[in-house]
Amino acid sequence: MILGIETSCDETAAALVTGAGEIRANIVSSQADLHARYGGVVPEVASRRHLELVSPVVQEALAEAGATLDDVETVAVTQGPGLVGALLVGLSAAKALAWARGLPLAPVDHLHGHVASLYLGRSPVEPPFLCLLASGGHTLLLDVQEHAGYRVVGTSVDDAAGEAFDKGARLLGLGYPGGAAIDRLARDGDPDAFSFPVARVEGLDFSFSGVKTALLYKLRDLGDEGEARKADLAASYQRAIVRALVERTRAAAAELRHERVAVVGGVAANSELRESLRGANFAPLALCTDNAAMIASAARFGRRLPYPRYLDLDAYASRA
Ligand code: KG4
Ligand code: ZN
Repeated sequence: MILGIETSCDETAAALVTGAGEIRANIVSSQADLHARYGGVVPEVASRRHLELVSPVVQEALAEAGATLDDVETVAVTQGPGLVGALLVGLSAAKALAWARGLPLAPVDHLHGHVASLYLGRSPVEPPFLCLLASGGHTLLLDVQEHAGYRVVGTSVDDAAGEAFDKGARLLGLGYPGGAAIDRLARDGDPDAFSFPVARVEGLDFSFSGVKTALLYKLRDLGDEGEARKADLAASYQRAIVRALVERTRAAAAELRHERVAVVGGVAANSELRESLRGANFAPLALCTDNAAMIASAARFGRRLPYPRYLDLDAYASRA
C-alpha cells in the first residue's frame, strides 16, 4: 500500500491506497474553522496546526484501513505548490516515516495529484482527455495524454476560479471558505437577476479578477438593498464564473480534439458546474477538495526515490 500525506494548504490529510488504485482510508482534517476568523488561511497558523495533526491523522488512516506501517511500501507526499511552511511539515513527516522504515519516498506535485484523483476506484478515467483543474490556487486547462503527467494549454492570467468564489463570498459576508457557501445560497437565487460579465482573454486562458470587482460595485450601488438580494447576487455571480469555465473548457476540447473531458479540484464540487458540463467526468465529491488519496494515486505513476535518497528534498511554493 501507498501512504499518502498532504499538507499544502489548510487540510491535514493522510490516505492509504493500493497499487491498483483502491482507497483503503482517506482522512482529511480541515482547519477551515481555525482560519475563518481571519477571512483566509494564515500560513504560520496552518503550519503549526499541521504539526499537531499530521501524526494523529496518519494513525487514523492506518486504523481505518486496518493496517500498520508494516503494510506500507511507499510513502507519497505533496512537495509543492503550496504554502512552504505547511508543505515542509508533511514532507518532514513523510521523510521521517520512510527513512525509519527504509522505504522509498514519492514526491508528488499537488496539481498532478488533483488530476490523479480521476485514476482511483473501480471506473477510473483513462487518458487521453482534456482536464479542467479549478481550485483555490489554480485554474488550468490540461492536455492529458498519459497517467504520469500533462501539458498546460490554458491558465488564469490573474485570480483562480476558487479564489473568485472565495473573494465573492467574502464580499457577500458568507465567510471563508466561500465556494460551497455561494453554491448553497445560489440555489435560492435568480442567476439572471444581475449581469456580471467575465473578461475574455486571448487563447484558452481565463481572467477572474474583473468579475469580483463587478460584484463589489454592484453591492455599492445596491446599498441597503444588497442584503435582501444576496441569493440573486450569489446565483448571478456563480453563473458568470461557471459560464467562463464551461466555455473555455469546451473550446479547448474542440481545439485539441478531445472526446473526453474531466474536471478536478475544489471548484469541481460546484453543483452548477457539474450540471452545466454534462457528459464530462467529474472527480467524486470527496476527492475534489484537497485530500491525500489523490497524492497516493499520483505516486503510482510518478517517480519514487529509493531509501535514503530523499533526505535533502525541498518543498516548492509555486508551479514549476
Ligand atoms: O482544491 P482545493 O481544495 O484547494 C486548492 O488546491 O486550492 O480547492 C479549494 C477551493 C476553494 O476556493 C473553495 O472555495 C472552492 O475550492 N470550492 C468550491 C466549492 N467547494 C469548494 N467552489 C465552488 N463551489 C463549491 N461547491
Ligand atoms: Zn488543491
